[in-house]
Amino acid sequence: MLNQKSPAQLFDISNRVIVVTGGTGVLAGSAVKYLASQGAHVVILARDQSKIDAVLAATRDLPGECVGYQCNVLDQAGLELVCNAVIARFGRVDVLINAAGGNQAGATIAPDSSVLDLNHTAYRQVMDLNLDGTVKPSLAFAKAFIAQRSGCIINFSSMAAAQAITRVLGYSNAKAAVDNFTKWLAVELAQKYGPALRVNAIAPGFFIADQNRRLLLNEDGSPTARGKAVLAKTPFKRFGESNELHGALHFLISDASAFVTGTVLAVDGGFSCFSGV
Ligand SMILES: NC(=O)c1ccc[n+]([C@@H]2O[C@H](COP(=O)([O-])OP(=O)(O)OC[C@H]3O[C@@H](n4cnc5c(N)ncnc54)[C@H](O)[C@@H]3O)[C@@H](O)[C@H]2O)c1
Repeated sequence: MLNQKSPAQLFDISNRVIVVTGGTGVLAGSAVKYLASQGAHVVILARDQSKIDAVLAATRDLPGECVGYQCNVLDQAGLELVCNAVIARFGRVDVLINAAGGNQAGATIAPDSSVLDLNHTAYRQVMDLNLDGTVKPSLAFAKAFIAQRSGCIINFSSMAAAQAITRVLGYSNAKAAVDNFTKWLAVELAQKYGPALRVNAIAPGFFIADQNRRLLLNEDGSPTARGKAVLAKTPFKRFGESNELHGALHFLISDASAFVTGTVLAVDGGFSCFSGV
């Protein structure tokens, strides 16, 4: 038998060195605190030092050590510097979570406009952030994973990847490409460098965060028309809570998923399996 570990050993992620891009955001910031609570050493990679400092302050008393580096996920040279700094500090790097991402209004077709009105600059920026912002960190850290012959990448996909979300063009295109990249890189790394290099993704359903709050909720907290449409297609009839991503991330990081690569794990209250009728 390859795997004779106890449940505690299978799910032990203490002392793993885990890099989280966009680790100051709503979903990833919650994951950073959870992973540090499990004894993992967490490296936050984000652009805004004051936001990094706020997350670090919130993790100070947790068992895992947390550090932060200011870096843009589109800056290849900066990413390589961070990777070297992480290895200098911890001696290795075990996991990369690509959580930096998001949408912007210009890459979405407004209700009263047409696809012919697309703002190509905004579209390109959303594609760059979500796709290149996943590919570039993956390649920067893959260098270390290949040298170690072990490593785990977890990308952030979305419900927009498998079913195009109405009006949301750039983000849907980019997240669909993230799913494809997840599968492609999983095969490439496993075939050339062995089964201890794994690449997976999680696809969150609809979670209230800074970027989508005004789209989904009115000021009084009731759902907007769009929020109601999302809830009508979510069998659980509610939005997700950021802590509901922790278990999926933990599983994909841990040895419990040692034979899992190239998968996109939906955490969505059933949104992706419901036709809506
Ligand atoms: N909230 C949801 O319902 C939802 C659903 C599906 C997928 N997602 C995905 O989950 C991830 C986290 O989203 P969130 O909702 O927590 O949003 P968020 O805006 O709170 O987090 C995104 C983080 O990425 C950072 N970031 C943006 N551009 C960056 C760059 N160039 N370099 C470094 N960092 C950068 C932001 O500063 C922010 O901290 C994103 O990839 C998003 O697309 C969110």
